[in-house]
Amino acid sequence: MNKVIDISVLDGVIKRTIETVETSKTQIFDIAESARQQGNSLKFDLHELRQEISKVIQKVDALELAYRKSRNRLVQVSRNFHMYTEDDIRIAYEEASRIQVELSIYRERENNLKRRRNDLERQLRTLEETIDRAEKLVSQMSVVLGYLTGDLSKIGEALESAKQTQLMGLKIIQAQEEERKRVAREIHDGPAQSMANVVLRSEIVERMLKNERILEAQMELHELKEMVRLSLADVRRIIFDLRPMALDDLGLVPTLQKYIQTCEERIRASIDLVVFGVEPPLRSSVKAAIFRLVQECLNNVEKHAGASSVQVKLEFLQESLSLVVKDDGVGFDLEKRMANGNSFGLLGMRERVQLLEGSVDLQSTPGEGTKVIFQIPLKI
Ligand SMILES: Nc1ncnc2c1ncn2[C@@H]1O[C@H](COP(=O)(O)OP(=O)(O)OP(=O)(O)O)[C@@H](O)[C@H]1O
Ligand SMILES: [Mg+2]
Repeated sequence: MNKVIDISVLDGVIKRTIETVETSKTQIFDIAESARQQGNSLKFDLHELRQEISKVIQKVDALELAYRKSRNRLVQVSRNFHMYTEDDIRIAYEEASRIQVELSIYRERENNLKRRRNDLERQLRTLEETIDRAEKLVSQMSVVLGYLTGDLSKIGEALESAKQTQLMGLKIIQAQEEERKRVAREIHDGPAQSMANVVLRSEIVERMLKNERILEAQMELHELKEMVRLSLADVRRIIFDLRPMALDDLGLVPTLQKYIQTCEERIRASIDLVVFGVEPPLRSSVKAAIFRLVQECLNNVEKHAGASSVQVKLEFLQESLSLVVKDDGVGFDLEKRMANGNSFGLLGMRERVQLLEGSVDLQSTPGEGTKVIFQIPLKI
């Protein structure tokens, strides 16, 4: 199973989640808005209803008063019926019952209106609760969106850089293994073979001496000496490649001079080392780092540039050091190469420069050569 996280997929998921949350937020906002409008029209209805209720209540109060009066009148007329005509009694009775009917109609109306009012008030409370909840949801969604567009959207970058670091680690281990293999092969093919030969030829010399073939033995010894001398040079070169001890013994500039000489032969291009200023006492780690930077630049020139002339410029300033490696080779498209997952030379250079808190600027155009500029602060 492939466990490598595809960052672009993750970015896509986050982007779609953001879109969905944004849409939902808008929808909830719309719901809240229409609830608010509905609430406003309910409030308006309620206001009218309350006015109507108060009018009806006034009317009921007035009717109750009138009814009480008409009842009193009826009682009075009935008690003293000999003082009133029959018509008076009938009118009093009819008046009382008319008011009674009207009063019961208005009471009924009052009750209906109050029921409707209670109903509207309940609806309004529910609507207000809905608006409240919608507003809370919208603000919670804003928080979620904040996370999604803020910290989480950077997760892609973070994972990408973690992936690069992991790949870098693997590449370093691989490079170490290859370096060991290379050194083993060089020792095996060079000094080890020579030593075996030296043992063999020493035995021949021994036998010659036993047989008193002095002259031959002398010649053989001479060749033997030459062989040991060459092996010694080989061993010195191997050691130099591993960690130029000259860096500590002679300093950066002489070591670079020596290294560049060997490169010139290998690359078959003219390489100029130009130095401005005087080399200050540098920390061992800084010297090694600068040496490796030059080494990687020249490796790239050898592998990719096909250059005929290269310039290495080293400038010691008051508080910093600038290094420029420029070639007149084929150059390359920076954008395309940066995306290449199998190139770690440039990445390694960046890491090294970062450790020294310096900066690197790469300039290259296809067909016009390449220029790498390093600025390294010197904390002496
Ligand atoms: N001086 C140069 N001239 C032309 N192309 C270059 C030069 N330096 C780098 N490049 C291009 O940039 C790419 C990246 O270089 P980088 O050193 O990172 O990787 P590499 O040399 O291909 O592999 P590695 O260094 O990991 O062994 C190279 O593959 C090459 O195409
Ligand atoms: Mg390289």
